[in-house]
Amino acid sequence: WVLMVTAQTPTNIAVIKYWGKRDENLILAINDSISVTLDPAHLCTTTTVAVSPAFNQDRMWLNGKEISLSGGRYQNCLREIRARANDVEDEKKGIKITKKDWENLHVHVASYNNFPTAAGLASSAAGFACLVYSLAKLMNVQEDNGRLSAIARQGSGSACRSLYGGFVKWVMGKEENGSDSIAVPLVDEKHWDELVIIIAVVCSRQKETSSTSVMRETVETSALIEHRAKEVVPKRIIQMEEAIQKCDFATFTHLTCADSNQFHAACLDTSPPIFYMNDTSHRIISCVEKWNRSEGTPQVAYTFDAGPNAVLIARNRTSAALLLQRLLFHFPPNSETDLNSYVIGDKSL
Ligand code: DP6
Repeated sequence: WVLMVTAQTPTNIAVIKYWGKRDENLILAINDSISVTLDPAHLCTTTTVAVSPAFNQDRMWLNGKEISLSGGRYQNCLREIRARANDVEDEKKGIKITKKDWENLHVHVASYNNFPTAAGLASSAAGFACLVYSLAKLMNVQEDNGRLSAIARQGSGSACRSLYGGFVKWVMGKEENGSDSIAVPLVDEKHWDELVIIIAVVCSRQKETSSTSVMRETVETSALIEHRAKEVVPKRIIQMEEAIQKCDFATFTHLTCADSNQFHAACLDTSPPIFYMNDTSHRIISCVEKWNRSEGTPQVAYTFDAGPNAVLIARNRTSAALLLQRLLFHFPPNSETDLNSYVIGDKSL
């Protein structure tokens, strides 16, 4: 027999960034962060997990290609979920698995992204969140999403925020074992539903260095990152939560853009310096800044993760349509600017 579960998890984009760990194995951050979860129709991972007595080892396929599960991150997630497994019974199929059986049963995992993994768009967030969620369903784990987020966090920090829709805060926590380092939903996807997210794919090449190792170098060598984590982010988190509650787009834009810029400044302050944005990214920033200033009230917020692609958050559909017009005018697709496609994703509408 084979027992299967399929789940779908969207990716999330941080508006107050996580950058820097206080514990690399447990993945504990040096500051709180806030993100918005995207609509699963646009950027998400679908994962099927299966268990059968015929499986003699844990195996995983990502977009059809087998990947190694030997990395500590996968092992940590599998171990944590297995430790919480419960009895499972499927009467129709005549399957009965006891809590104890799970120790000797192996799983097969097949995971697909509905966006190109090579596009350099956050895929580990949706991937680990979906892995943990689907395994928890398969093994009848009775933990709430907060507790599951602490397990997904051990796969990839940003993954813990993908367990909820809407705006989500990852509370860094204080405990050494990470038990209080969990995701907390701020507002659900129905709140502030006029926002529209457009991702301008500036470069579809895969990242050269993993964000994990750069993060470590930033913590070890940048003076700015400590100031950011201790002095800047705590204030921004409070202001951002208030802006989200009030749907205050001007404050939201100011904080989102400033935080993205400071994160990239910290990367530049790292030795050796890291340049995630390229000329096209910089031109997009100028274009948005000029437009926002000429309108008097901001129309679009921008934020860039560990890569050159722009995530643009428009205040409403009208601004989003105007933004697309502007982008197409300044960066015609397939021109030498290599801004080669747009992914349009409403905020988990
Ligand atoms: C720039 O979550 O990918 O996207 O915890 O090492 O897996 P690991 O890092 P990851 O880093 C994400 C960094 C970011 C900002 C953010 O999502 O908050």
